[in-house]
Amino acid sequence: INLIFLGPPGAGKGTQSAKIIDEYKVVQISTGDLLRAAVKAGSELGKEAKVYMDGGQLVPDRLIIDMMKERFQSDDCKNGFILDGFPRTTAQAEALDSMLVNDLKTSITHIISLEVDDEVVVTRNTGRRVCPKCGATYHIKFNPPKTGGVCNNDGETLVHRDDDREETIRKRLAVYHQTTALLKDYYGKSGKFHELNGDDTTDNVFAAIKKILD
Ligand code: AP5
Ligand code: ZN
Repeated sequence: INLIFLGPPGAGKGTQSAKIIDEYKVVQISTGDLLRAAVKAGSELGKEAKVYMDGGQLVPDRLIIDMMKERFQSDDCKNGFILDGFPRTTAQAEALDSMLVNDLKTSITHIISLEVDDEVVVTRNTGRRVCPKCGATYHIKFNPPKTGGVCNNDGETLVHRDDDREETIRKRLAVYHQTTALLKDYYGKSGKFHELNGDDTTDNVFAAIKKILD
């Protein structure tokens, strides 16, 4: 399985990826997670990216493409991967096509777009809490941790992402509709493209994904 996940911020790409990697033993490659790790590490990439991320804007293509080229060099990609949050622009999609042919010598097997309305996106992202240690994702209402405010896995205090304030979420949504949603046309005719309703329970969405993958 080499899967591309499309869909607006908060569609559940990360939540579903966690379930897919358990079941199918593939790796998840999230450009958002890679960027947040770079920000945390204080690297040059992180410093440059943070300004765009906090503003709800896309990080420039050249930074993302270089970061992905490096990520793809790792051996763990060979048994299959989920691309979560990449590509997001036509330039990134074209760069990915060339990496697949020239470097990875493989192809994308599925493209799944999780469809969720804007107001659901706002509710999901404003209520999202994440574990800074293991990356687990929760929602204050839809998927609360067992004990108030701390991660089920490691007891870390959960945090609210800097870009999960309503104003920034609305900007991220606008960017999604203007730019990333166009990739549905880019991949639409590939014969590997599937649109799924993401506004259902996590388990029902996963069941629908499994039907596509099996
Ligand atoms: P990124 O981290 O990729 O953010 P995003 O695409 O906005 O997606 P999210 O991670 O916010 O949402 P998700 O779909 O994974 O939802 P989740 O499962 O967490 O990017 C952040 C920033 O980095 C961008 O704005 C940009 O600046 C930059 N960037 C990243 N990649 C880039 C690229 N390729 N090019 C340029 N810039 C890039 O779920 C959300 C919430 O909903 C959670 O609380 C969850 O518990 C809850 N939830 C999930 N499923 C359900 C359900 N079925 N029912 C109820 N609640 C649910
Ligand atoms: Zn944790």
